[in-house]
Amino acid sequence: MRTRRTKKRNPRNQWADHYTRRAKKEAFPARSVYKLQEIQKRFRVIRKGGRVLDLGCAPGSWTRYAAELTGPGGKVIGIDLKKVGIALPAHVHLLQGDILAPDAAIAEVLAPGFDAVISDMAPATTGHRDVDAARSLNLCEAALTIARAHLKPGGHFVCKIFQDPVDKALGIRALENFADEVAAGLQMRSGNRQGGFAQIK
Ligand SMILES: C[S@@+](CC[C@H](N)C(=O)[O-])C[C@H]1O[C@@H](n2cnc3c(N)ncnc32)[C@H](O)[C@@H]1O
Repeated sequence: MRTRRTKKRNPRNQWADHYTRRAKKEAFPARSVYKLQEIQKRFRVIRKGGRVLDLGCAPGSWTRYAAELTGPGGKVIGIDLKKVGIALPAHVHLLQGDILAPDAAIAEVLAPGFDAVISDMAPATTGHRDVDAARSLNLCEAALTIARAHLKPGGHFVCKIFQDPVDKALGIRALENFADEVAAGLQMRSGNRQGGFAQIK
């Protein structure tokens, strides 16, 4: 008699499937929103009436969630290489462009006065983990430079960094070199290996 082998599912995929289904149900275009929700629960980085700069905002999950948190009395500016296809409230202003080579429209919105700068920017992956980690770090440093120049005193910075395959703490240390105070270095559950976030006050 032939026995049927039950295939054991990878728990990482189960995590991803669960959050993908939930995002769909809650009308968020990406499951990455749950990372930001977890950070928000722990650190309250976005407040009602706040001004938020969302770097690498497409397809728009973080932007939508940030806009819910600020409410119409606040402002969320989202920037990405790609176009955001979802409908967003009127207090969201979207710009398409490259943070590493800002055009005049981006340069104009990059002014002081943000309560939070959040960056989920990620490079297109090459399959070479060290190359991807270096590119991610480059994006992270660009986001941090913007945050330092344009955050209000006491503002918050949240940034995704791909883990370096050899030196897992590299991203957090790089942030520490640039930042006045790293309030928390945390590894967010992300369902894949790219889950490093740091929050800086
Ligand atoms: C993981 S996705 C962001 C998901 C988004 N936070 C959401 O919740 O819907 C990463 C984004 O970073 C953007 N990105 C990568 N490099 C960028 C750059 N140099 N300037 C602007 N955006 C960039 C990509 O186009 C991509 O849309």
